[in-house]
Amino acid sequence: MVRRSGPLSGSVNVPGAKNSVLKLMAATLLAEGEYVLTNVPAITDVQKMSETLNALGVTTDWLGPHELHLTNTGNITPEVPFEKFDKMRASLNVLGPLLTHYGSARINWPGGDDFGDRPINLHVEGLQRMGATVDEGLLDIYAHAEQLKGTTIELEIPSVGATENLVTAAVYAKGVTVIDNAAREPEVQDLCNMLVAMGADIEGIGTSRLVVHGVKKGSLRSTRHAVIVDRVQAATYMAAVAVAGGDIMVRGARTEHMEELLNCYARMGVAVTPQRDGVRVTSHERLRAIDFITEPYPGIATDYKPLLVAMLCISRGEGSVTETLFPGRFKYIEEFRRLGASIAIYGNKATVRGVYELIGSEVKVPDIRAGAALVVAGLVASGETTISDIFHIDRGYDDLVGRLSALGADVRRV
Ligand code: UD1
Repeated sequence: MVRRSGPLSGSVNVPGAKNSVLKLMAATLLAEGEYVLTNVPAITDVQKMSETLNALGVTTDWLGPHELHLTNTGNITPEVPFEKFDKMRASLNVLGPLLTHYGSARINWPGGDDFGDRPINLHVEGLQRMGATVDEGLLDIYAHAEQLKGTTIELEIPSVGATENLVTAAVYAKGVTVIDNAAREPEVQDLCNMLVAMGADIEGIGTSRLVVHGVKKGSLRSTRHAVIVDRVQAATYMAAVAVAGGDIMVRGARTEHMEELLNCYARMGVAVTPQRDGVRVTSHERLRAIDFITEPYPGIATDYKPLLVAMLCISRGEGSVTETLFPGRFKYIEEFRRLGASIAIYGNKATVRGVYELIGSEVKVPDIRAGAALVVAGLVASGETTISDIFHIDRGYDDLVGRLSALGADVRRV
């Protein structure tokens, strides 16, 4: 339950990124030994990935609230049992490491947030180019290759998941694998950096051409790695103060990963000042509407989009968000309309005419990011906003309610 709040004040620590930690966990399938991941967010998706890995032969235990210890026992079964496979999108990331190390992999069809059609053709075609046979059955996907071979793969779209799966597969491929039009997202870089620390040979990290020199199977070693700070969670606290007003410190936020977004926040009237250990964000006036386009990194991430819609809902004037990655990612608009927002959808573009105040109502969370954005919108809605299906938020947000409450927001789990 959220009540109109603000101005916000104080500071918030931003936890590690969901979209990174799940892939780092999957990478432990590549080498026997003990791993420690620090800055791990306490989210349910980490729990689900742990269960998947446990079923495959990697044990997991918490050393502290944000420190996860994983042991690859060397006794790995490269088939995820149906009941242990979570349909979250990141489950697909066990495919690359299993196939390249153990010669085969069987997983169920992944799902993930419902953004419309989410194909896996780039993952499959890339692995096939590396010499794998991939059977896409009705219930599961089975991939096989005694030894993957290096090749050049040009991705049609700079897919985050496909880049990650192919780069992990390439570490034990024979020869050199070149991935052109690779995704450059900070979370992809985080995975590559961990793989390098494990002994992989990867050039071009952070660019759209990754060159992976395969190393001998089984020669990678375990490591300790700090999960990159979550830029989407950071953006969420920034959006909260932007709409509710106030002056907060977002500790740990990496401004270099959020440049385009922060420029847009500034154009809307939010003051964003990078400091030694984070970003100071202040907002004292009504926001100004602007137009956004979501694009692959370094553009404005599609995951920020519901937050931008929440901000536009109460801005002065008319603004828009154009989606270039997931055209179906507008399902949550109906929930914003329940709060009195004025939004029109034309194809892949949402046009928002700002209202002075939203109206508290009952809304239902359709996916992780939209859920957080509805909480943000509730901060500027009159009366009470009751938000149901919050399990979606718990998948990717580490104590959103506690962190917002500490900033002075009136938010409670009921
Ligand atoms: C990841 C993130 C998600 C984020 C998205 C884009 C995780 C767990 N999820 O999802 O939060 O919104 O990146 O930044 O990290 N595509 C294909 N074929 C494929 C794969 C993708 O056509 O085989 C298309 C998709 O439909 C989409 C585009 O490529 O239009 C980008 O998707 P992708 O980058 O793969 O997103 P995910 O890795 O699924």
